[in-house]
Amino acid sequence: MTARRLRQAIEVATVALAEAGVASARVDAELLAAHLAGSDRGRLATIAEPDAEFFRRYDEAITARARRIPLQHLTGSAAFGPLDLAVGPGVFIPRPETEALLEWALAQRLPEHPVIVDLCTGSGALAIALAAHWPKARVIAIDDDPVALDYARRNAESTSVEVLGADVTTPGLLSELTGTVDLVVSNPPYIPLGADLEPEVAEHDPEHALFGGADGMAVIAPIVELAGGWLRPSGLLAVEHDDTTSPQTVETVTATKLFETVTPHRDLAGRPRFVTARRTADGPARLAGVGAAVLPETAGSRGRHNTKEPA
Ligand SMILES: C[S@@+](CC[C@H](N)C(=O)[O-])C[C@H]1O[C@@H](n2cnc3c(N)ncnc32)[C@H](O)[C@@H]1O
Repeated sequence: MTARRLRQAIEVATVALAEAGVASARVDAELLAAHLAGSDRGRLATIAEPDAEFFRRYDEAITARARRIPLQHLTGSAAFGPLDLAVGPGVFIPRPETEALLEWALAQRLPEHPVIVDLCTGSGALAIALAAHWPKARVIAIDDDPVALDYARRNAESTSVEVLGADVTTPGLLSELTGTVDLVVSNPPYIPLGADLEPEVAEHDPEHALFGGADGMAVIAPIVELAGGWLRPSGLLAVEHDDTTSPQTVETVTATKLFETVTPHRDLAGRPRFVTARRTADGPARLAGVGAAVLPETAGSRGRHNTKEPA
Protein backbone atom coordinates (compact mmCIF):
# COMPACT_ATOMS: atom_id res chain seq x y z
CA MET A 1 0.00 0.00 0.00
CA THR A 2 1.29 3.49 -0.90
CA ALA A 3 3.03 5.27 2.01
CA ARG A 4 0.48 7.46 3.82
CA ARG A 5 2.05 10.89 3.30
CA LEU A 6 2.78 10.11 -0.33
CA ARG A 7 -0.80 8.94 -0.86
CA GLN A 8 -2.10 12.18 0.65
CA ALA A 9 0.27 14.28 -1.48
CA ILE A 10 -0.98 12.52 -4.63
CA GLU A 11 -4.61 13.19 -3.62
CA VAL A 12 -3.90 16.91 -3.08
CA ALA A 13 -1.94 17.09 -6.36
CA THR A 14 -4.78 15.40 -8.26
CA VAL A 15 -7.24 18.04 -7.06
CA ALA A 16 -4.81 20.88 -7.93
CA LEU A 17 -4.22 19.53 -11.45
CA ALA A 18 -7.92 18.93 -12.08
CA GLU A 19 -8.66 22.53 -10.97
CA ALA A 20 -5.98 23.73 -13.40
CA GLY A 21 -7.80 21.95 -16.25
CA VAL A 22 -5.45 18.99 -16.67
CA ALA A 23 -7.63 16.23 -18.11
CA SER A 24 -5.53 13.33 -16.83
CA ALA A 25 -5.01 14.80 -13.35
CA ARG A 26 -4.62 11.58 -11.32
CA VAL A 27 -2.48 9.85 -13.91
CA ASP A 28 -0.17 12.87 -14.13
CA ALA A 29 0.00 13.21 -10.32
CA GLU A 30 1.00 9.55 -10.06
CA LEU A 31 3.43 9.65 -12.98
CA LEU A 32 5.25 12.67 -11.53
CA ALA A 33 5.47 10.99 -8.12
CA ALA A 34 6.81 7.81 -9.70
CA HIS A 35 9.31 9.79 -11.80
CA LEU A 36 10.69 11.65 -8.78
CA ALA A 37 10.81 8.44 -6.74
CA GLY A 38 12.75 6.74 -9.54
CA SER A 39 9.99 4.16 -9.87
CA ASP A 40 7.09 3.18 -12.13
CA ARG A 41 3.49 4.27 -11.69
CA GLY A 42 2.50 0.64 -11.22
CA ARG A 43 4.93 0.29 -8.30
CA LEU A 44 3.93 3.40 -6.36
CA ALA A 45 2.11 1.23 -3.83
CA THR A 46 5.32 -0.58 -2.94
CA ILE A 47 7.69 2.35 -2.38
CA ALA A 48 8.77 3.45 1.11
CA GLU A 49 7.68 6.84 2.50
CA PRO A 50 9.88 9.39 0.66
CA ASP A 51 11.96 12.08 2.41
CA ALA A 52 11.28 15.83 2.73
CA GLU A 53 13.36 16.64 -0.36
CA PHE A 54 11.08 14.41 -2.43
CA PHE A 55 7.98 16.33 -1.28
CA ARG A 56 9.65 19.70 -2.02
CA ARG A 57 10.44 18.56 -5.57
CA TYR A 58 6.99 17.02 -5.97
CA ASP A 59 5.34 20.34 -5.02
CA GLU A 60 7.49 22.13 -7.59
CA ALA A 61 6.62 19.61 -10.30
CA ILE A 62 2.88 19.77 -9.57
CA THR A 63 2.98 23.59 -9.59
CA ALA A 64 4.68 23.47 -13.00
CA ARG A 65 2.18 20.94 -14.35
CA ALA A 66 -0.69 23.10 -13.03
CA ARG A 67 0.81 25.92 -15.17
CA ARG A 68 0.20 23.46 -18.05
CA ILE A 69 3.84 22.67 -18.71
CA PRO A 70 3.65 19.32 -20.51
CA LEU A 71 4.18 16.26 -18.32
CA GLN A 72 6.87 15.04 -20.73
CA HIS A 73 8.89 18.24 -20.29
CA LEU A 74 8.89 17.61 -16.54
CA THR A 75 9.92 13.97 -16.82
CA GLY A 76 12.21 14.53 -19.85
CA SER A 77 10.79 11.57 -21.75
CA ALA A 78 7.81 10.47 -23.83
CA ALA A 79 6.52 6.96 -24.43
CA PHE A 80 5.98 6.03 -28.07
CA GLY A 81 5.02 2.42 -28.74
CA PRO A 82 7.80 0.34 -27.20
CA LEU A 83 10.15 3.36 -26.98
CA ASP A 84 10.94 5.88 -24.30
CA LEU A 85 12.26 8.97 -26.10
CA ALA A 86 14.14 11.96 -24.71
CA VAL A 87 12.11 15.13 -25.26
CA GLY A 88 12.15 18.69 -23.95
CA PRO A 89 11.38 22.28 -24.88
CA GLY A 90 11.83 22.86 -28.62
CA VAL A 91 10.95 19.39 -29.88
CA PHE A 92 7.49 17.99 -30.64
CA ILE A 93 6.28 15.43 -28.08
CA PRO A 94 5.32 12.20 -29.92
CA ARG A 95 1.60 11.48 -29.64
CA PRO A 96 -0.38 8.27 -29.11
CA GLU A 97 -2.34 9.10 -32.32
CA THR A 98 0.81 8.45 -34.35
CA GLU A 99 1.04 4.92 -32.93
CA ALA A 100 -1.85 4.01 -35.26
CA LEU A 101 0.33 4.88 -38.25
CA LEU A 102 3.24 3.01 -36.65
CA GLU A 103 1.09 -0.10 -36.15
CA TRP A 104 -0.02 0.03 -39.78
CA ALA A 105 3.60 0.32 -40.94
CA LEU A 106 4.77 -2.56 -38.72
CA ALA A 107 2.11 -4.80 -40.26
CA GLN A 108 3.43 -4.31 -43.82
CA ARG A 109 5.59 -6.83 -45.66
CA LEU A 110 8.86 -5.26 -46.74
CA PRO A 111 11.95 -6.73 -48.44
CA GLU A 112 14.67 -8.16 -46.18
CA HIS A 113 16.83 -5.03 -46.46
CA PRO A 114 14.25 -2.28 -46.88
CA VAL A 115 14.93 1.42 -47.30
CA ILE A 116 12.64 3.47 -45.06
CA VAL A 117 12.37 7.27 -44.84
CA ASP A 118 10.71 9.19 -41.97
CA LEU A 119 9.99 12.77 -43.06
CA CYS A 120 9.63 15.41 -40.31
CA THR A 121 11.04 13.00 -37.75
CA GLY A 122 11.05 15.32 -34.69
CA SER A 123 12.49 13.30 -31.80
CA GLY A 124 13.00 10.37 -34.19
CA ALA A 125 9.93 8.47 -32.96
CA LEU A 126 8.76 6.71 -36.12
CA ALA A 127 12.23 6.16 -37.56
CA ILE A 128 13.59 4.57 -34.39
CA ALA A 129 10.53 2.35 -33.87
CA LEU A 130 10.73 1.16 -37.49
CA ALA A 131 14.48 0.52 -37.28
CA ALA A 132 13.92 -1.60 -34.15
CA HIS A 133 11.36 -3.69 -36.05
CA TRP A 134 13.46 -4.04 -39.24
CA PRO A 135 17.05 -4.29 -37.95
CA LYS A 136 18.41 -4.87 -41.48
CA ALA A 137 16.74 -1.74 -42.86
CA ARG A 138 18.42 1.46 -43.95
CA VAL A 139 16.32 4.07 -42.11
CA ILE A 140 16.70 7.77 -42.93
CA ALA A 141 15.13 10.35 -40.58
CA ILE A 142 14.77 13.92 -41.85
CA ASP A 143 13.90 17.17 -40.09
CA ASP A 144 14.88 20.80 -40.67
CA ASP A 145 14.86 22.04 -37.09
CA PRO A 146 18.18 22.08 -35.16
CA VAL A 147 16.58 21.28 -31.77
CA ALA A 148 14.56 18.39 -33.24
CA LEU A 149 17.70 17.10 -34.98
CA ASP A 150 19.63 17.17 -31.67
CA TYR A 151 16.94 15.13 -29.94
CA ALA A 152 16.59 12.73 -32.89
CA ARG A 153 20.38 12.15 -32.93
CA ARG A 154 20.43 11.59 -29.19
CA ASN A 155 17.50 9.15 -29.32
CA ALA A 156 18.95 7.34 -32.33
CA GLU A 157 22.46 7.10 -30.84
CA SER A 158 22.55 3.33 -30.38
CA THR A 159 20.58 2.60 -33.57
CA SER A 160 21.45 2.53 -37.28
CA VAL A 161 19.05 5.40 -38.08
CA GLU A 162 20.65 8.09 -40.28
CA VAL A 163 19.47 11.53 -39.13
CA LEU A 164 19.60 14.23 -41.83
CA GLY A 165 18.90 17.96 -41.68
CA ALA A 166 16.83 19.04 -44.71
CA ASP A 167 13.69 20.95 -45.70
CA VAL A 168 11.23 18.38 -47.03
CA THR A 169 9.43 21.01 -49.10
CA THR A 170 12.51 21.28 -51.35
CA PRO A 171 11.58 19.89 -54.78
CA GLY A 172 13.97 17.16 -55.91
CA LEU A 173 15.45 16.67 -52.42
CA LEU A 174 17.84 13.67 -52.22
CA SER A 175 17.24 12.72 -55.85
CA GLU A 176 19.69 9.83 -55.39
CA LEU A 177 16.85 8.02 -53.58
CA THR A 178 14.66 8.03 -56.70
CA GLY A 179 12.92 4.68 -57.17
CA THR A 180 14.80 3.03 -54.26
CA VAL A 181 12.64 3.52 -51.16
CA ASP A 182 10.29 0.82 -49.82
CA LEU A 183 8.40 2.85 -47.22
CA VAL A 184 7.93 6.58 -46.59
CA VAL A 185 6.24 7.58 -43.32
CA SER A 186 5.52 11.06 -42.05
CA ASN A 187 3.81 12.87 -39.23
CA PRO A 188 4.36 16.42 -40.54
CA PRO A 189 3.05 19.78 -39.30
CA TYR A 190 -0.60 19.71 -40.38
CA ILE A 191 -2.85 21.76 -38.10
CA PRO A 192 -4.71 24.44 -40.07
CA LEU A 193 -3.72 27.95 -38.89
CA GLY A 194 -6.07 29.40 -36.31
CA ALA A 195 -7.05 26.09 -34.66
CA ASP A 196 -7.84 26.32 -30.95
CA LEU A 197 -5.20 24.39 -28.97
CA GLU A 198 -4.69 23.28 -25.39
CA PRO A 199 -2.06 25.37 -23.50
CA GLU A 200 0.45 22.47 -23.39
CA VAL A 201 0.44 22.51 -27.19
CA ALA A 202 0.03 26.21 -28.00
CA GLU A 203 2.69 27.33 -25.51
CA HIS A 204 5.14 24.43 -25.50
CA ASP A 205 5.15 22.53 -28.81
CA PRO A 206 7.18 24.39 -31.45
CA GLU A 207 4.90 26.28 -33.86
CA HIS A 208 7.00 24.99 -36.74
CA ALA A 209 6.03 21.43 -35.74
CA LEU A 210 2.32 22.14 -35.57
CA PHE A 211 0.96 24.28 -38.36
CA GLY A 212 0.61 23.29 -42.00
CA GLY A 213 -0.56 26.61 -43.45
CA ALA A 214 -4.13 27.88 -43.79
CA ASP A 215 -5.51 24.50 -44.86
CA GLY A 216 -3.06 22.23 -43.05
CA MET A 217 -1.71 20.88 -46.34
CA ALA A 218 1.39 23.08 -46.87
CA VAL A 219 3.89 20.37 -45.90
CA ILE A 220 1.80 17.30 -46.73
CA ALA A 221 1.58 18.17 -50.44
CA PRO A 222 5.38 18.43 -51.03
CA ILE A 223 5.91 15.25 -48.94
CA VAL A 224 3.54 13.31 -51.18
CA GLU A 225 5.43 14.57 -54.25
CA LEU A 226 8.79 13.58 -52.75
CA ALA A 227 7.50 10.13 -51.81
CA GLY A 228 6.15 9.64 -55.33
CA GLY A 229 9.64 10.19 -56.69
CA TRP A 230 11.56 8.15 -54.10
CA LEU A 231 9.37 5.06 -53.81
CA ARG A 232 10.12 1.99 -55.88
CA PRO A 233 7.17 0.43 -57.74
CA SER A 234 4.77 -0.95 -55.06
CA GLY A 235 6.57 1.05 -52.36
CA LEU A 236 4.34 2.36 -49.56
CA LEU A 237 3.44 5.80 -48.22
CA ALA A 238 1.78 6.63 -44.90
CA VAL A 239 1.16 10.27 -44.00
CA GLU A 240 -0.61 11.63 -40.92
CA HIS A 241 -3.02 14.57 -41.22
CA ASP A 242 -5.38 16.74 -39.20
CA ASP A 243 -8.69 15.05 -38.36
CA THR A 244 -10.45 17.59 -40.60
CA THR A 245 -8.29 16.99 -43.70
CA SER A 246 -8.65 13.32 -44.59
CA PRO A 247 -10.48 14.04 -47.89
CA GLN A 248 -7.89 16.68 -48.87
CA THR A 249 -5.04 14.28 -48.12
CA VAL A 250 -6.66 11.49 -50.16
CA GLU A 251 -7.15 13.99 -52.99
CA THR A 252 -3.56 15.26 -52.79
CA VAL A 253 -2.15 11.73 -52.99
CA THR A 254 -4.54 10.74 -55.78
CA ALA A 255 -3.88 13.91 -57.81
CA THR A 256 -0.21 12.98 -58.27
CA LYS A 257 -1.35 10.01 -60.38
CA LEU A 258 1.60 8.12 -58.90
CA PHE A 259 -0.27 6.02 -56.31
CA GLU A 260 -2.94 3.35 -56.10
CA THR A 261 -4.89 1.86 -53.16
CA VAL A 262 -5.20 5.31 -51.58
CA THR A 263 -6.73 4.51 -48.19
CA PRO A 264 -7.84 6.74 -45.30
CA HIS A 265 -7.38 5.38 -41.74
CA ARG A 266 -8.56 6.32 -38.27
CA ASP A 267 -6.53 6.55 -35.07
CA LEU A 268 -7.17 4.59 -31.88
CA ALA A 269 -9.76 7.21 -30.81
CA GLY A 270 -11.67 6.67 -34.08
CA ARG A 271 -10.66 9.97 -35.67
CA PRO A 272 -9.54 10.27 -39.33
CA ARG A 273 -5.76 10.38 -38.90
CA PHE A 274 -3.60 9.09 -41.76
CA VAL A 275 -3.66 8.07 -45.39
CA THR A 276 -1.73 5.22 -46.96
CA ALA A 277 -1.03 4.48 -50.61
CA ARG A 278 1.01 2.19 -52.83
CA ARG A 279 3.30 3.52 -55.57
CA THR A 280 2.07 2.33 -58.94
CA ALA A 281 4.26 -0.09 -60.82
CA ASP A 282 4.15 1.82 -64.08
CA GLY A 283 3.34 5.44 -63.41
CA PRO A 284 0.37 7.70 -64.01
CA ALA A 285 -1.65 5.73 -66.56
CA ARG A 286 -3.00 3.08 -64.17
CA LEU A 287 -4.74 5.30 -61.68
CA ALA A 288 -8.33 5.57 -62.81
CA GLY A 289 -10.80 5.60 -59.94
CA VAL A 290 -8.58 5.57 -56.85
CA GLY A 291 -9.71 8.96 -55.57
CA ALA A 292 -13.07 7.92 -54.20
CA ALA A 293 -11.94 6.68 -50.79
CA VAL A 294 -13.43 8.78 -48.00
CA LEU A 295 -14.05 7.98 -44.36
CA PRO A 296 -17.61 7.95 -43.11
CA GLU A 297 -18.35 10.92 -40.84
CA THR A 298 -18.01 10.51 -37.07
CA ALA A 299 -19.47 12.88 -34.51
CA GLY A 300 -17.16 15.33 -32.74
CA SER A 301 -14.12 14.34 -34.71
CA ARG A 302 -11.82 17.32 -34.01
CA GLY A 303 -9.07 16.83 -31.49
CA ARG A 304 -5.50 16.05 -32.53
CA HIS A 305 -2.35 17.37 -30.93
CA ASN A 306 -4.49 18.18 -27.88
CA THR A 307 -6.64 20.39 -30.02
CA LYS A 308 -9.46 21.65 -27.83
CA GLU A 309 -12.72 19.73 -28.06
CA PRO A 310 -15.71 21.82 -28.99
CA ALA A 311 -17.71 22.72 -25.86
C1 LIG B 1 4.26 17.18 -35.85
S1 LIG B 1 6.02 17.16 -35.63
C2 LIG B 1 6.23 15.40 -35.74
C3 LIG B 1 7.49 14.84 -35.20
C4 LIG B 1 7.53 13.32 -35.26
N1 LIG B 1 7.31 12.84 -36.60
C5 LIG B 1 6.55 12.69 -34.30
O1 LIG B 1 5.58 12.09 -34.76
O2 LIG B 1 6.75 12.82 -33.09
C6 LIG B 1 6.58 17.78 -37.18
C7 LIG B 1 8.08 17.90 -37.37
O3 LIG B 1 8.29 18.40 -38.70
C8 LIG B 1 9.41 19.26 -38.71
N2 LIG B 1 9.28 20.11 -39.90
C9 LIG B 1 8.40 21.12 -40.11
N3 LIG B 1 8.55 21.62 -41.35
C10 LIG B 1 9.55 20.92 -41.93
C11 LIG B 1 10.17 20.99 -43.21
N4 LIG B 1 9.78 21.86 -44.13
N5 LIG B 1 11.19 20.13 -43.47
C12 LIG B 1 11.60 19.23 -42.53
N6 LIG B 1 11.04 19.12 -41.32
C13 LIG B 1 10.02 19.96 -41.01
C14 LIG B 1 9.34 19.98 -37.38
O4 LIG B 1 10.60 20.48 -37.01
C15 LIG B 1 8.82 18.86 -36.45
O5 LIG B 1 9.90 18.20 -35.83
